Amino acid sequence: MGWVRTRRDSKGGFSFLEINDGSCLNNLQVIADHNIDGFESDSGKLHTGCCAGITGKLVQSPGKGQNVELQAFSIEVYGAADPEQYPLQKKNHSFEFLREIAHLRPRTNTFGAVMRVRNRLAYSIHQFFQDRGFVYLNTPIITTSDCEGAGEMFQVTTLNPSSPPMIDAKVDYSQDFFGEKTSLTVSGQLEGEVYALALSEIYTFGPTFRAENSNTSRHLSEFWMVEPEMAFYDLEDDMDLAEDFLRYLFKDALEHCPEDLEFFNKRIDKTILERHRRIVENQFERILYSEAIHILEKSKKKFIYSVEWGCNLQSEHERYISEEVFKRPVIIYNYPDEIKPFYMKANEDGVTVSAMDVLLPKLGEIIGGSQREDDYEALIKRMKAKDLDMENYYWYIDLRRFGSAPHSGFGLGFERLVQFVTGMENIRDVIPFPRTPKNARF
Ligand code: 4AD
Ligand code: MG
Repeated sequence: MGWVRTRRDSKGGFSFLEINDGSCLNNLQVIADHNIDGFESDSGKLHTGCCAGITGKLVQSPGKGQNVELQAFSIEVYGAADPEQYPLQKKNHSFEFLREIAHLRPRTNTFGAVMRVRNRLAYSIHQFFQDRGFVYLNTPIITTSDCEGAGEMFQVTTLNPSSPPMIDAKVDYSQDFFGEKTSLTVSGQLEGEVYALALSEIYTFGPTFRAENSNTSRHLSEFWMVEPEMAFYDLEDDMDLAEDFLRYLFKDALEHCPEDLEFFNKRIDKTILERHRRIVENQFERILYSEAIHILEKSKKKFIYSVEWGCNLQSEHERYISEEVFKRPVIIYNYPDEIKPFYMKANEDGVTVSAMDVLLPKLGEIIGGSQREDDYEALIKRMKAKDLDMENYYWYIDLRRFGSAPHSGFGLGFERLVQFVTGMENIRDVIPFPRTPKNARF
């Protein structure tokens, strides 16, 4: 059973069909004599895109390109696909065009391969953590807190948008479904910390949402994030885990998706196999934020965004450092307090926090993490400085009052991982149905 990719009729009274059911990249070649059961009656429906069930004998193939082929006894077409209208014909379609037909693109070689690799990566993420005794935790999707403090949240409400109840010229959220203002989560971290301070090592793997108006090849409005959170880890332990994790995932993909990765190496990016092997075999570079700034300042390269101590690193800076300077993954750590969220642990220098980002060549940031502020007074001080509503975060603050412990964690963008492993240029092409500004179709 499968979908017909091509049909070629031979003069000798038989047809060659290429059929694929998505279980692997290769098609099965079918030889159908025109006299077999069902051929004549269904022949008019047997075209590219149709779905068919074929019974036959699997034999060694004398032809080039396949080991085996199916000599058909009977054919039944389950669903025809009018060749005049079916949008996926044999020629190569652009990824932009395929995004317009996201309901049919999984039937192409590229999207089949992307989703099989994505599936294997999800599996090995669970395997990595489960083998190390981490507990898989499901954190809420609907929340009242803004973990990253960037104000990029999608609101969740059942109030009538054209006439919400008002009180003192403001929307009265006490009448909303949850009795207060709620949004879709940008990260499961804060709730993850709660459980790390009870079960020691946990991880989340779920959808996160960001109403950030960036139309880039690396941003989605809805993406999946993996967030481990560990009691008794300092920043260095956190970086060690992140590095082990990534190298494990690349090694696992090389081992378990050889056919699909060969395909990407041939058709999408001729350097990925070599790059993945080098990553698996070599250690990551680790540098201080201050060193990164120093490298960027003395570089001769022209950047769009200028650099000075205290600035946020842009993707062009991150890529320069990992791609051109070190030619390998780089972890930058100890960022300025000012540009990082409230929960990160203050360093003794008074100006930096124990934050770390993992950067990959070609991609830039794939992981962001930190040691968390576990000291009650220091946390209150940072929250005040960042103007947070303490009352709303009382439960988070409570963790520092009752049995606090040093702890750390990080977040890995799952789609960025799939992007890097497959070499796909655009993040919209590594998730089944991408959500981006002005686009939530399908
Ligand atoms: O660096 P971020 O914002 O970190 C956090 O959310 C922390 N709470 C994680 C933690 O410490 N538990 O996001 C983590 C990662 C980024 O490094 C990036 O790979 C990915 O999530 N990411 C996105 N991926 C796709 N589209 C977006 N709009 C993304 N924003 C972040
Ligand atoms: Mg980040």
